[in-house]
Amino acid sequence: MKFQGSQNYVATQDLMLAVNAAATLTRPLLVKGEPGTGKTMLAEEVAQALDMPLLQWHIKSTTKAQQGLYEYDAVSRLRDSQLSDVDGGERVKNIHNYIVKGVLWQAFTADKPVCLLIDEIDKADIEFPNDLLREIDRMEFYVYETRELIKAKHRPLVFITSNNEKELPDAFLRRCFFHYIKFPEAETMKQIIDVHFPGLKKELLTAAMKTFYDVRNLPGLKKKPSTSELLDWLKLLVAEDIPLEALQSKDDKVAVPPLVGALLKNEQDVTLFEKLVFMQSRNR
Ligand SMILES: Nc1ncnc2c1ncn2[C@@H]1O[C@H](COP(=O)(O)OP(=O)(O)OP(=O)(O)O)[C@@H](O)[C@H]1O
Ligand SMILES: [Mg+2]
Repeated sequence: MKFQGSQNYVATQDLMLAVNAAATLTRPLLVKGEPGTGKTMLAEEVAQALDMPLLQWHIKSTTKAQQGLYEYDAVSRLRDSQLSDVDGGERVKNIHNYIVKGVLWQAFTADKPVCLLIDEIDKADIEFPNDLLREIDRMEFYVYETRELIKAKHRPLVFITSNNEKELPDAFLRRCFFHYIKFPEAETMKQIIDVHFPGLKKELLTAAMKTFYDVRNLPGLKKKPSTSELLDWLKLLVAEDIPLEALQSKDDKVAVPPLVGALLKNEQDVTLFEKLVFMQSRNR
């Protein structure tokens, strides 16, 4: 059971190693990297490549660890108890009917091993990762309402992604295998583009990649464009049939690229870029 990349996803050697290492250790794989470098997609692709079901848990600022385990729906139970004609009151007596299973519970009790994605863990409050330590370590938790211990039948392959908005606690890090997805180098980027646009003209690819890395390497950018932005931009270039000349300046100087809004996402960056182009044109 080894992950070797997939048809839709370009995985570098060290990323494949990390996935397989996490699987061997049966520890969660903590994936960090700039936005749009394929962290979320990794879990989807690994699940597909290894033919495992994927359970996803997308974390928000209001998400609590308990929601991933189970929730006791006391409100419904109260309502049903007042409408006692529901099932002649039978349903209300059984508390199991009001326990709503969370993703971790589903992952632990699935019939075959599953992949579990805990996406953007850094969005939750600081207690969130701490509250999941035992569940992630021992793969079990206790349901107080029914006095049951839920133990994983199979340890799920866990992927946890983070955009680094908050530091994660050391005790949590100790339980994970860590991988940082480096921003793809030109060679890897070509492969990624090829996956998405198999028939792209070579000249357009070269010119677009040059412009993209020029923009990205501009010092002082607030938000560097990433893989997904490059893909969006290429899609537009193709759809709008932008001529090659619009991307290539004859004298190797930087020019504001067409449809720059796909790459630069705030006005400071656009202004910075325009200033640079202006200064270059004056220095000629
Ligand atoms: N290695 C790759 N191979 C193929 N496509 C990729 C790769 N990396 C990124 N992409 C493309 O970039 C898009 C964004 O990827 P994804 O949503 O997984 O990024 P992310 O790292 O989770 O971003 P965020 O931190 O914003 O959630 C994907 O839909 C995919 O099209
Ligand atoms: Mg993501």
